[in-house]
Amino acid sequence: MNIVILAAGQGKRMRSALPKVLHSIAGRPMLAHVLDSAEALATDLNVPAHITVVVGHGAEAVRASLAGRSAVQTALQEPQLGTGHAVMQAAAQLVDSEPTLVLYGDVPLITPATLAKLLEAAGKDGVGLLTVQMPDPAGYGRIVRDWHGNVLKIVEQKDAHGDELSITEVNTGILVAPTPHLKRWLGKLSNRNAQGEYYLTDCIAQAVHDSVRVAGVLCPGVDETLGVNSKEQLAQAERVTQRRIAARLMEQGATLADPARIDVRGELTVGADVFIDIGCVFEGRVDLADGVHVGPYSVLRNMTVGANTELVAFTFFENSSIGASARLGPFSRLRPGAELGDEVHIGNFVEVKASRMGHGSKANHLAYVGDANVGAHCNIGAGTIVANYDGANKHKTELGDNVHTGSNSVLVAPIKVGAGATIGAGSTVSNDVPAGKLTVARARQTTIEGWTRPVKKK
Ligand code: UD1
Ligand code: CA
Repeated sequence: MNIVILAAGQGKRMRSALPKVLHSIAGRPMLAHVLDSAEALATDLNVPAHITVVVGHGAEAVRASLAGRSAVQTALQEPQLGTGHAVMQAAAQLVDSEPTLVLYGDVPLITPATLAKLLEAAGKDGVGLLTVQMPDPAGYGRIVRDWHGNVLKIVEQKDAHGDELSITEVNTGILVAPTPHLKRWLGKLSNRNAQGEYYLTDCIAQAVHDSVRVAGVLCPGVDETLGVNSKEQLAQAERVTQRRIAARLMEQGATLADPARIDVRGELTVGADVFIDIGCVFEGRVDLADGVHVGPYSVLRNMTVGANTELVAFTFFENSSIGASARLGPFSRLRPGAELGDEVHIGNFVEVKASRMGHGSKANHLAYVGDANVGAHCNIGAGTIVANYDGANKHKTELGDNVHTGSNSVLVAPIKVGAGATIGAGSTVSNDVPAGKLTVARARQTTIEGWTRPVKKK
């Protein structure tokens, strides 16, 4: 099967420097969603897919977004003279013996199941046209049918007159046609219309003229065929996608406090009995094991979280891993490279970066742990700072098991603290600290006898 994806338009109505098809939905470019559906369709039908993306506006950026999809070719459309002209640019890459399916880079929510139905309705020698009922058809091409219900042609909004404007069955843009016919029709397109463009949609009238059967397939839901031309429609497409993702998570057993208030911008996997409160954002790849509880307004980017771990409200975690039965937050931050063991506790205003913390270690309040290797069962006191940066280089800190650091300790890296060591509150330690002992590094407390407070001069 040939699949052509139109992605050369500028998308003026987006009012953006970014090519339209690269605007993201659920954290990935619109175009990537269309490509996924195209690839899934070919897999489902067990046919090879020759996919061509027509690029033009922002071609370099659009091409770059295809990196890693080695099977996808591109065709350049320059200048952009309409959707029919766009498909023409891919003509040389279309295999005549297989039908051609045209998808739009800005119709990103289409599912492989609907596409399969369209192909079936078209059969081997017919045209399949995917249509949809839109209560408000503004902006879309209208499907004109005869009294018997046969599709006659498509009229673009800007070319429509009178009664045509009130037609609510519209063109989704998606069609499939026998390739030799399609090539011939494209060659005959004219741009004598309101937009001065070569419309792909005019191929339908040509098919009718040539007595090629046109199967107009009505898509059951409007969501799938939503065209994204504006920021408002982008937001609609985002909501639809998020609802789909939320439904899938619930099917997998997750409890969502409110399926309308979760945002997944990547791939989230959930074990059994995961609870996700409102306002959480998941980016990149996030894996939540069984029984994980995610409190409200947590942001997790590229994270793995072990079973029964509880994330209390307001946390921001990225590129890190957390073991089982740990407890983090509220207001904690994990920067890239934090590796927390089972039963670790991280409390409010604690930041951990590129550090390992062993089983059961705790940093409950107001601390910074960076570039450190912390053993098991350590207690990082409130206000403890690992001073890992000398202004030029980062240095490592090692804490053995069962180390306790007192409140407001500063550990000046590089430094090693032996197992079982206790560091007195308010200490600044810059030399290695021996195991099993109390080390204090602060001025001794003295009291000045006979001292009197100054008084204000009269
Ligand atoms: C198009 C259809 C309209 C349909 C609607 C559905 C035509 C003439 N009209 O209108 O019937 O209801 O989609 O969403 O086909 N593109 C190119 N090169 C171009 C022009 C466009 O690659 O020269 C690409 C765009 O990047 C976009 C897609 O084709 O992905 C559709 O173009 P757009 O200008 O948005 O068409 P619509 O006005 O929405
Ligand atoms: Ca469009």
